[in-house]
Formats: sequence, structure tokens, C-alpha cells
Amino acid sequence: MLALVVDHDVPAELRLGETAEPVPASDEVLVEVRAISLNHGEQRGAIFNYGELRGVADQPAGYVPGWDAAGVVRTAAADGSGPPAGSRVVTFGPSGAWAQLRAVPVAELAVVPDGVDLGAASALPVAGVTALRALRRLGFVTGQRVLVTGASGGVGRFAVQLGAAAGAHVIASVGSAARGEDLAELGAAEVVVGLEGVEPGLHGVLDNVGGPQLAQVFGLLAVGGSVQSIGATSGEPTVFEPYATVGELRSLQSFMMGGGLAGDLAVLVGMLAEGCLDPQIGLRGDWKDVASAVETLFARRIPGKAVLDVS
Ligand SMILES: NC(=O)c1ccc[n+]([C@@H]2O[C@H](COP(=O)([O-])OP(=O)(O)OC[C@H]3O[C@@H](n4cnc5c(N)ncnc54)[C@H](OP(=O)(O)O)[C@@H]3O)[C@@H](O)[C@H]2O)c1
Repeated sequence: MLALVVDHDVPAELRLGETAEPVPASDEVLVEVRAISLNHGEQRGAIFNYGELRGVADQPAGYVPGWDAAGVVRTAAADGSGPPAGSRVVTFGPSGAWAQLRAVPVAELAVVPDGVDLGAASALPVAGVTALRALRRLGFVTGQRVLVTGASGGVGRFAVQLGAAAGAHVIASVGSAARGEDLAELGAAEVVVGLEGVEPGLHGVLDNVGGPQLAQVFGLLAVGGSVQSIGATSGEPTVFEPYATVGELRSLQSFMMGGGLAGDLAVLVGMLAEGCLDPQIGLRGDWKDVASAVETLFARRIPGKAVLDVS
């Protein structure tokens, strides 16, 4: 089968090449992949305080990366669980999405109704579920002020929509005015560049950017409020001034999306089907053009998700 395989000698370190077909375990379905989406983290990787996520550059040649894929079940799970052959599904896993065939556990997929585009569904797993689960961490947000940083990106645009749908007063923070142009239409009550004009007393923050901004948003929390540290796209360190972390209860919480996505994916697919969630596909192309898609993503020129069709 064809897959996007790691090759350290080509642009974006990915090329289409032949590789072995995956062999599904008894609780896995085999999926014919039709569309994939790109995520910041699987490309770039990260070192956490408790482990490491290897980006494409750190994987061996021939490795097939990819977390998000949608397609059609070719072979149902041997243990009888999960959808039958022919079902349209969206899937998540730690690797192997960027291939014509993917073996994936039943616990990491949701069925996609006929009316929903598989490309749109492929945008959901990592970015959508991260936004949903991070927002849940903030508890009951109706009527509360919630700040989303990196709001122009994949996670950010889902967070803005889901926060607004939950009744929060969402403040969307972007790097430049141009990056925030359509966020009010998605439900943002305020769109700000950096943290300009953000009043203190925030109930919660979903932070994708990190760096100096992380220390600043911690200082804007209400008593009892929390920052969910989702990502650090700025790549910069965070420095807290002495005593900035001393005082009444305010939290900075590490966040990891985790696994077992089936239930949350089904929620998001349902919202897509009902038209109350938009996948925010800022770039749609063919998977052979992966290098330019990756370059555009890291140049901060994609409003939302990059989705590639698998031919
Ligand atoms: N913890 C988890 O489980 C989890 C899950 C998913 C994602 N993440 C992390 O969350 C972050 C966001 O992911 P994503 O997929 O939404 O990324 P994305 O689509 O690339 O969006 C990232 C946003 O960060 C902003 N940004 C600020 N400084 C940047 C810089 N120096 N380079 C690039 N972007 C910069 C950009 O907004 P402006 O252009 O407006 O500045 C951009 O829209 C990443 O760090 C990712 O690794 C973590």
C-alpha cells in the first residue's frame, strides 16, 4: 500500500512510498483511508515534563506517522465489536493514519453518517477532542469568561466554537488582527491580539501558545480559576516573577488529550451532522502535496485545519 513515510532527505521529511499493510488485532478494524488531517504536535513533537512525543524529524526513515484519519471499514473487528465492513468512520491512533490502510481499535473511532464529508470528520480527532476535554476541565462555563490562546489554529477554532456553544463568554487571542478576522462568526465574544485589553478575573484559559503569555494569563485568573496548558506553539520559555504564583487558589494544570476517543468523537461527529460545529478546514489538498501543507501550517497561514485527501 501507499503511505506518507518519513524520509529525512526530502522537504517536510515525508514522501509517498510503498510500505507493508497493517495487520489488525482482534479488537481493531481495517480502514480504507480517504482523508487525513495534520496536527502541529505530530509534526513537531515535544518534550513534556513527564515524557517525550517524537515529531516526524525524530522518527526513523520509513515510519508512517499520523493521528487523524477518516475512511471506510474494509474488515470489521474479529472479536465482533465495532462497525461492520462498509461503515464510514473517523479514527484516532498514535501513528499510521497517513496511509491507504489503517488498523485501528474500536475504542478509537466513531461512525460518520452519510451526510458528513469524511474530510470534515478527519479534522475532529486530536484538535476537536482536545478542545472538548480541555473545556470540560473548566467545569460549568455558562456565563463565564474563558480565554482561548492560539485561537486561530486547529485546537483554538474548535475551542472557540465549543466554548460559545456551552454559553461561555469566549475571548479569542490571536497573533495578529488578520488571524482573528472570522472568529466572531464562530462565537467569540471578543477577539484580541495577544492579551491586549483582556480584563482580569478569567474563569479559565485554554492555552495553546505558552511562553511569556502563559505567565501573563495566570495573572489574569479569577480566584479559583485555572489555566489548561495544552500546547506551547511559541516555543518560548515561561518565566514567573517572584511571588507571581503566591496567593489565593489559582491553578496551572498540565493537559493531555489521552485516548479512548470513541464517545467524544461521536459527540463531535453528531454536532457536525447537525450543523452546529464547523470543521474549519483552512487548507484542503491532495496528500501528495503534504510538504507544502506542512510548510503552510508552520508559517501560520492556515486558519484552522489542514485536510488532505488520500488518493
Ligand atoms: N496536550 C494535548 O493533548 C494536545 C493536543 C492537541 C494539540 N496540542 C498542542 O496544542 C497546540 C496547538 O495545536 P494546533 O494543532 O491547534 O496547532 P496549530 O493549528 O498550528 O495552531 C497553533 C496556533 O498557535 C499560534 N502560535 C503562536 N505562536 C506560534 C508560533 N511561534 N508558531 C506557530 N504557531 C504559533 C498560531 O496562532 P497565530 O498565528 O494567531 O499567532 C496558531 O494558530 C500545539 O502546541 C500542539 O502541540 C496539545
